[in-house]
Amino acid sequence: MEAYQPRHSQKPSSPSSTNSGYYFVPKSVCTWLACGFLALALLHLLCCSPLAGAGDREALLSPLLHYFNDTYSHFSSSGAGQSCDYSEGRWVRAPGHTRRYNATACDAKESHDCIRNGRPDTGYLDWRWQPAAAGCRLPAFDAGAFLSAVRGKHVAFVGDSMARNQAQSLVCLLGAAFPHSVVYRDPVAWRQNFWRWAFPTHGVTVSMYWAPFLARATGKPENDSDPDSVVHLDALADRWAADADGMDVVVLAAGHWLLNRAVYHNGSAVIGAHAHPDRSYTDIGYALPVRQAYRLAVERLVSSGRPRTVVLVTFSPHHFEGKPVDSPTACTNTEPYKEGEKELEGFQKQLRSIVIEEAEAGARIAGGAARVEVLDVTKLAAMRPDGHPNVYMQRDPFAHGVQERMPSDCLHFCLPGPVDTFNEILLQILKKRR
Ligand SMILES: *[C@@H]1O[C@H](CO)[C@@H](O)[C@H](O)[C@H]1NC(C)=O
Ligand SMILES: *[C@@H]1O[C@H](CO)[C@@H](O)[C@H](O)[C@H]1NC(C)=O
Ligand SMILES: *[C@@H]1O[C@H](CO)[C@@H](O)[C@H](O)[C@H]1NC(C)=O
Ligand SMILES: *[C@@H]1O[C@H](CO)[C@@H](O)[C@H](O)[C@H]1NC(C)=O
Repeated sequence: MEAYQPRHSQKPSSPSSTNSGYYFVPKSVCTWLACGFLALALLHLLCCSPLAGAGDREALLSPLLHYFNDTYSHFSSSGAGQSCDYSEGRWVRAPGHTRRYNATACDAKESHDCIRNGRPDTGYLDWRWQPAAAGCRLPAFDAGAFLSAVRGKHVAFVGDSMARNQAQSLVCLLGAAFPHSVVYRDPVAWRQNFWRWAFPTHGVTVSMYWAPFLARATGKPENDSDPDSVVHLDALADRWAADADGMDVVVLAAGHWLLNRAVYHNGSAVIGAHAHPDRSYTDIGYALPVRQAYRLAVERLVSSGRPRTVVLVTFSPHHFEGKPVDSPTACTNTEPYKEGEKELEGFQKQLRSIVIEEAEAGARIAGGAARVEVLDVTKLAAMRPDGHPNVYMQRDPFAHGVQERMPSDCLHFCLPGPVDTFNEILLQILKKRR
């Protein structure tokens, strides 16, 4: 295996973001002040330092240039009320970019801990997302900036196992740089469906609430050998709904379960089913239930009057590419797709659109108190067939040779892995001014 270097003592990359006091002054003012001072300092160094030799000058200038670069990139990507569109772009090679933590040390789900499980290629860790929009750059994750942006707040992830994948990525990214502790953990350890972490330096808590339909659901979600999911589209899943009033940042991610077999209720009436073998049900498809589940969740979160940020994550496609989920060759790619190599399928585009439309609908009814944002990951996730555990969801999967059927995961991402980029964008959303 290539040398793996977790960057535990990684310094927050931006001087502006480590100093929380900075945020008390409007950012644009600071940016321009900083630019002004730096321009003067640069001029002074360039013109008025005859004693400094060329090498000395470079040594003196380089930290300043870095600072300027960084300040400028913040300004162009997220300052002054402007924001970048991160939904379109391409993956560019950036050695080490995603080597930021050791998933074993932050207690991530073992089936996502690809390095521990012996995945031999590590090139999937060497990419960063480059937005297509002119002048935009997505800054690397900065744990200090994230914690400062959510100081004193409760950040809750609500949804399916992709929500959990992103929540664990965030906890690992933050935990590599700041002290933390577990407040609560799902007694069923391997599931990790409900847990809460605390970051005491900033009074921040991060929680995961597993609710694969967002709405209340019984059957398969509670008992995996039950073939039916029974979903109540008029009520939210109890556990997160009970805690919703105390959430400041809510990240919603669901969709995959709604593509599968389920029976839908509205109050006491059965309104239909999807992908159900019993033909006596009306098939209502997946689009209406997805829309209804998001609408119910968003309306609940924006109608309470509590100022908060609700972030809807768009659909993250899997890469089984028609192969069975127990195929050892389902997603063995070692590089991202190139532009045009793989187009989104119709249902993936549709699920993405529904989430965006429901976010827009939520923003319209939110009034002043709540902010509704879209974290559009569909394209960037679709381009990363190489970032999944594949058969490395188990430790040393080839210890007994290559089997004909081997469980493989081409949906969730390795930790660390491409899902860390979701949190890089989440940070930019949270830093954005209204
Ligand atoms: C400034 O950033 C660009 C990329 O955005 C990089 O190519 C360049 O080397 C950086 N310059 C300094 C001095 O850090
Ligand atoms: C990751 O951390 C675990 C335990 O905290 C340690 O045993 C392991 O050697 C580390 N892995 C790497 C690749 O550094
Ligand atoms: C889970 O579902 C299966 C199939 O419907 C059933 O036989 C079993 O009793 C259920 N287990 C529990 C704990 O409810
Ligand atoms: C559920 O029933 C209520 C009351 O009849 C109705 O307003 C609502 O549109 C129904 N929702 C769905 C998803 O059918």
